[in-house]
Amino acid sequence: MKKFSKMAAIISFILIMVLLFTACGKKVSTDVEENGDQPPADTSQPPVDTDTEPTPVDDESPKIKEIKQAGKIVLGTSADYPPYEFHKEIDGKDTIVGFDIEIAKEIAKDLGVELEIKDMDFDGLLLALNAEKVDFVIAGMTPKPERDVEFSKIYYKALQGILIHADNKDVYKTIDDLTGKRIGAQKGAIQEDLAKEEIKDLKLKALAKIPDLVLEVKHKKIDALVMEMPVAEAYAANNDDLFLMPVELIDEEGGSAVAAKRGEKGLIDFANKTLDRLEKDGSIERFVIEAVEMVE
Ligand code: ARG
Repeated sequence: MKKFSKMAAIISFILIMVLLFTACGKKVSTDVEENGDQPPADTSQPPVDTDTEPTPVDDESPKIKEIKQAGKIVLGTSADYPPYEFHKEIDGKDTIVGFDIEIAKEIAKDLGVELEIKDMDFDGLLLALNAEKVDFVIAGMTPKPERDVEFSKIYYKALQGILIHADNKDVYKTIDDLTGKRIGAQKGAIQEDLAKEEIKDLKLKALAKIPDLVLEVKHKKIDALVMEMPVAEAYAANNDDLFLMPVELIDEEGGSAVAAKRGEKGLIDFANKTLDRLEKDGSIERFVIEAVEMVE
């Protein structure tokens, strides 16, 4: 009997020590996680016992914490790309609209913060992202590995279209008809490379803004303009002097994704969850239709 109680005392002592030890261990790792700007260290990897207790949804990256603290998320976009993002006068006020903007609003909503929009040239977006002038970018941006940022899943896929002057619709009917011609593409966009790959001996003219390129077509300063098909369609539908060539260029990796600074995987995971939700409930499709209707 005596021997038994001694044994019991030893066992409970060991148990208490184990419990204390685990408790201390947890305290330490919590402190590390809460410690502000530390990059997520390996110590935050879930220990084996994580699923025994309800894990609070603290997969929040320092960046997400920072955004929540600021109460706003800053979007970088290039609002020259209807129906993705473009300027429209609403109630007498210049407003940036489009399906990308609706997606950005949803991400902000899920984060519980305000959305602030910074409009800039497309070729300045990645710089702004890396300089932390903006928190994320949605601009019909194609996730290319050369773009040294984090990308979400693709939320929208599109073909590539070619816009020409309506006067030339019987002159330029195939890609070969464009051989040696003056071709426009947005500076820093994938269409620069695509045009070079697909059109022989072209004279490439790359400008920062899509409306400037469209004017070049209208004034016959360039012969054709390569851009995402929905954008080409939008311009052709709203300008009698513009015509959409009956050809499609295929960009294999094509599609648009949300971008965040290199390393901000937490924010991308968050965006992916919002995108999943919007995809499942048909919102993205609806946003596209509504945006197309808004283009004039
Ligand atoms: N998808 C192309 C790219 O990523 C062009 C996107 C242009 N977007 C814009 N908002 N102007 O290079």
